[in-house]
Amino acid sequence: MMPIAHRRKQLACYGLLFGAIVALAASGNLAGTTGAQQSRQSPGSPAGARGVAAPQYTGPGSCSSTTCHGSVTPRTDNRVWQNEYSIWVVKDKHSRAYSVLSGPVATRMAAILGLGKAQEAHECLVCHALYVPTAERAHTFDLSDGVSCESCHGPAAAWLGPHTEQGWTHQQSLALGMYDTRDVVKRTEKCLSCHLGNQEKFVDHEMIAAGHPDLTFELNAFSAVMPRHWKLPIAGSNDPWGEVRDLGVSQAVQFREDMMRLSQRARGNIWPEYSELDCFACHHSQTPPEKSWRQARGYPGRRPGNPPWNDSRYAIFHYLVKQADEESAKELAMDLGQVSQVMSRLAPDRQRVAQAADRSARVSDELARKLAAMPYNQALTLRLMQQISADGGNIAAQGERTAEQSAMVIQSLFVAYTGNASLAGEAEIRAAISELFKEFQDPSAYDPGRFAGRMRRVSALLH
Ligand code: HEC
Ligand code: HEC
Ligand code: HEC
Ligand code: HEC
Repeated sequence: MMPIAHRRKQLACYGLLFGAIVALAASGNLAGTTGAQQSRQSPGSPAGARGVAAPQYTGPGSCSSTTCHGSVTPRTDNRVWQNEYSIWVVKDKHSRAYSVLSGPVATRMAAILGLGKAQEAHECLVCHALYVPTAERAHTFDLSDGVSCESCHGPAAAWLGPHTEQGWTHQQSLALGMYDTRDVVKRTEKCLSCHLGNQEKFVDHEMIAAGHPDLTFELNAFSAVMPRHWKLPIAGSNDPWGEVRDLGVSQAVQFREDMMRLSQRARGNIWPEYSELDCFACHHSQTPPEKSWRQARGYPGRRPGNPPWNDSRYAIFHYLVKQADEESAKELAMDLGQVSQVMSRLAPDRQRVAQAADRSARVSDELARKLAAMPYNQALTLRLMQQISADGGNIAAQGERTAEQSAMVIQSLFVAYTGNASLAGEAEIRAAISELFKEFQDPSAYDPGRFAGRMRRVSALLH
């Protein structure tokens, strides 16, 4: 079938941005996290802050004064840089999330989907703007600001004034409706509400076929690309290896949200939903038999020609799970084996998929807590990089999306490691990790043999 030549520009950028990310880490802006508490946000209505009557969204203009968050250069006399607005407006694509809806791709997408104007379509605004009920918008609010401060930090009207007072605490702001982005579980949930989607807001294969980029995510890599407008370690933490904890916990949250999405889709209208499957099982060009790595590999666990399930959000997570809890690792592997088997049939049994996915979501919820409580250190960080790269052959065989997730995770581990400790052969390792990303520039031409080779190089350098 048709190759997907075009893919998200940002993937190629990871490789390019890599230097910058490493520089950021090296400058001492490293790592930190908080304990994980469970919370379910209600996406689409972030206004649902507890105990606050009619929260008001003020819009980013209220934060933009040079003495507040609109400083041009970062301040050094304060824990907060105060140039957050400037970073967001100049460097962060979120500030342009609304305006891309009037671009040619979005316009055609909306036409194909019969949505009218994308900038007015509920289906798009839910993720591309601070889309809150009109009654909750203050007079300074403007939809065209895109994904702005309050999309992540919660409605500001109640805490905007007091949060600048001497002695005012984060807890006090939270009580007035601020969203707790310091908590890595909540932070990941917030990002994923748009970067993975859920029942209320989603990107499905229909949207992708109309032109939407497919959604992938890894918290640390995406935070770096945003780029971060906050110092590391994040306030409230002084754990130098906290960034590795963030990675572990966010993988658990991502997997849980993925399982919940799968379960909802299995109960939904469109089934099978192609975006839950391996994109490049369908989207690759035909090859002569003597050159086909697919035929050389065979079709283990499925009928030849059936597209397999996209298990990329589990494939790397399970290396972390093994560190946290061997028993849960086994339990999860069994459930996931079942999901994979059922999902790789032509008409996957909805009931069985939904039940197994629900179970896995519960297990991963537990695991998020265990991964948050577990100690992280230099040895563990190195061991994870070694284990993942040493398993490059298996990872490569699981498809482009899994390979991509593994590259992002190795990169994030490397950034965390080299920010805290020196690593023999650091420059070569960095170059070898950058090479991994080349494999994703043309995902339809993804070749597991080639990717495995690149991983072997990383692995050799790390051992
Ligand atoms: C579930 C949330 C979600 C929904 C719903 C959604 N989008 Fe997106 N959209 C995103 C995210 C996240 C990205 C960035 C993806 C990435 O690069 O990883 C994005 C990227 C895009 C891009 C590419 C932007 C660029 O800079 O190249 C376009 C165009 C776009 N969306 C249009 C639309 C349109 C039109 C709709 C409605 C039909 C829509 N989106 C609905 C989350 C969403
Ligand atoms: C896409 C989500 C997102 C957007 C949009 C966003 N932020 Fe943030 N912000 C975060 C995250 C995540 C953190 C790091 C966790 C934390 O410190 O709470 C953070 C941290 C901060 C901090 C540091 C807090 C501290 O205690 O150290 C400030 C200040 C801040 N943001 C202000 C802003 C302002 C002002 C805007 C709008 C111009 C904005 N943010 C837009 C996600 C976002
Ligand atoms: C309200 C929805 C929403 C939330 C919450 C959100 N994002 Fe986004 N994000 C988007 C959309 C929409 C885009 C695409 C913007 C564009 O390309 O114009 C995007 C783009 C990005 C990009 C640029 C990707 C690229 O292709 O270059 C990064 C990086 C990113 N988001 C990281 C994050 C992180 C990290 C968080 C959580 C701290 C987060 N986002 C929270 C909606 C969201
Ligand atoms: C089961 C097979 C299958 C899977 C799996 C699948 N697709 Fe598709 N895709 C199709 C078909 C069929 C079309 C429609 C092609 C046509 O009408 O010419 C399509 C269309 C598309 C198009 C538009 C094609 C074009 O040339 O512009 C894109 C982009 C796309 N898919 C991306 C993806 C992504 C990304 C994934 C994984 C998240 C995915 N697809 C998973 C079968 C699949």
